[in-house]
Amino acid sequence: MIRRWTYVDNAPIAEMEKKYFPDPWNFRMLAGTYLLDNFVGLVDEREGKVVGYIGATYCIDEAEITLVAVDEPYRRKGIATSLLNELFSVLKERSVERVLLEVRRSNYYAQKCYVKAGFSVLSVREGYYPDKEDALIMEKRI
Ligand SMILES: CC(C)(COP(=O)(O)OP(=O)(O)OC[C@H]1O[C@@H](n2cnc3c(N)ncnc32)[C@H](O)[C@@H]1OP(=O)(O)O)[C@@H](O)C(=O)NCCC(=O)NCCS
Repeated sequence: MIRRWTYVDNAPIAEMEKKYFPDPWNFRMLAGTYLLDNFVGLVDEREGKVVGYIGATYCIDEAEITLVAVDEPYRRKGIATSLLNELFSVLKERSVERVLLEVRRSNYYAQKCYVKAGFSVLSVREGYYPDKEDALIMEKRI
């Protein structure tokens, strides 16, 4: 079930951030963000457990996806794709027309997931991450 991100989701999301990212968002960062007026956060909950999440900030007609992950045992079941599609419909209601994101050059599966959702590569930021890996900037018109 996909639903809006609420306060209780910040702890399990912070755990997943730690598990899956070298530069994770911590609880305090998440708690300071999820309620912002220009933030849209969604989670996929199964049997009372948050198994996936997505978050984006937007300004006028443009949004940036800043958070997305699916817990490992639940991957490859279309959860990220459903979260992306639900996010697009919420953003469209708020007059967003263009969605951007950054993804590590080595994160091939995430790139594949984004291409499947209609994103294409707009540009490359060389050495963007703290460990100097390049970021691909991807874009989708919604
Ligand atoms: C990237 C991620 C969010 C994808 O989540 P997911 O729920 O497994 O994605 P979906 O099931 O919706 O997959 C969509 C498409 O992506 C591609 N894909 C995703 N995982 C893949 C894998 N392990 N191998 C090959 N293709 C894969 C496939 O094309 C898939 O479509 P298909 O299953 O019909 O072939 C998940 O792997 C993840 O959390 N990774 C770690 C965190 C991360 O990298 N987040 C993105 C930061 S930019």
